[in-house]
Amino acid sequence: MVKKSLFIFALAILTALCFSGEAIPAEGEAKIPAGEKYIALTFDDGPRRGTTDRLLDGLKEREASATFFLIGRQIEGNEDLVSRMAAEGHQVGNHTWNHQRLEGTTSAVVAQEVARTEAVLEELLGGGEYWLRPPYGQVTAGTEASFGVPMVKWSVDPRDWESRNTEKVTQAILDYAEPNSIILLHDIYPTSVDAALKVVDALQEEGYWFVTVEELLWLNGLQPEAGKMYKTGNG
Ligand code: NI
Repeated sequence: MVKKSLFIFALAILTALCFSGEAIPAEGEAKIPAGEKYIALTFDDGPRRGTTDRLLDGLKEREASATFFLIGRQIEGNEDLVSRMAAEGHQVGNHTWNHQRLEGTTSAVVAQEVARTEAVLEELLGGGEYWLRPPYGQVTAGTEASFGVPMVKWSVDPRDWESRNTEKVTQAILDYAEPNSIILLHDIYPTSVDAALKVVDALQEEGYWFVTVEELLWLNGLQPEAGKMYKTGNG
């Protein structure tokens, strides 16, 4: 699905390239002109009413996109939040049904944990690819291909669940963020929502664009591969 925001980015980049006199990149090449900075915020363990909705309000106000990896059993009663994510241009992904550790778990349980959330997302948002973030960032070695979708890890982890401190989380992200970073946060904590919005303000001020993980890979000229684990926008 080609998103409107992606189209606008593509248009902006092509315009920038034309004005700078550089060649238009061929398919498979990075589409990011020198000086442009893109970054992805990712939120795990939601949706949660009271925090996720406040985050969506803040992102909308700032015209920032993000990626949400949802716990399937938390979707019931929060369907409106999930529909809103998709409608507002965010990427929605799978974080298993019960936040099940997939590494070292029997293949039947793993399949069930992933498929159950996928089915709910398909029912709610329609068929599509729901990328996977395995809880704790790991799957059993050798099983990667069985998931059939790209998987997403991260390159910046402020350990927001541990400190639950807005200032600490904000600073930890700003200390490590760089173009193409994938930042790990949890939209179930009010402190993480506050930190995320402060980070968006600070980095937008530095010229960063906040995009989904899918958009970040595309901007880097990468064709997402099923079963591959992505840690940054360029691999
Ligand atoms: Ni998690």
